[in-house]
Amino acid sequence: MTKVLFVCLGNICRSPTAHAVFESLVRNEALQGQIEVDSAGTGDWHIGHAPDKRASAAAAQRGYDMSTLRARQFCAEDFGRFDYILAMDENNLADMQALAPASHRAQVKLFLDYSTRFSEREVPDPYYGGDAGFEHVLDLVEDASRGLLRALQASPGDDESNG
Ligand code: 4NP
Repeated sequence: MTKVLFVCLGNICRSPTAHAVFESLVRNEALQGQIEVDSAGTGDWHIGHAPDKRASAAAAQRGYDMSTLRARQFCAEDFGRFDYILAMDENNLADMQALAPASHRAQVKLFLDYSTRFSEREVPDPYYGGDAGFEHVLDLVEDASRGLLRALQASPGDDESNG
């Protein structure tokens, strides 16, 4: 089993979108017995909350169901629980790395390292913006999700693509 965790700030917009989109790809490929997906936020404001309604609505338009997801906070134990911990932006990455134990086996990197169609490195925070921001999050997340699945299929549990 390969375990993948998506991380953003609030766990109500970007990382639950990645969770739903990537899980949908995994199901479509009948890989749910081999790849487990979760998401978390580095902040604690929205613990237990459902995803942002704007994020859920934009995802639903493209056929992704976020209704069962609830926010939780990223914690140091996640480094031992997951094989891949994928941050939406550099701040998320730095906040997580501040909690990292001296030694762990998780690959911790930016999710958009797996993007093929976009040159952006970060998924921008759509929380304070308009609807176009949520569409752009979905465009980035769909592309990087396809890239991630290809990477996992090429070398399950042992992707060294970014060191
Ligand atoms: P997310 O978006 O990190 O993509 O879930 C945010 C959600 C809430 C807040 C910030 C970003 N907030 O400040 O409450």
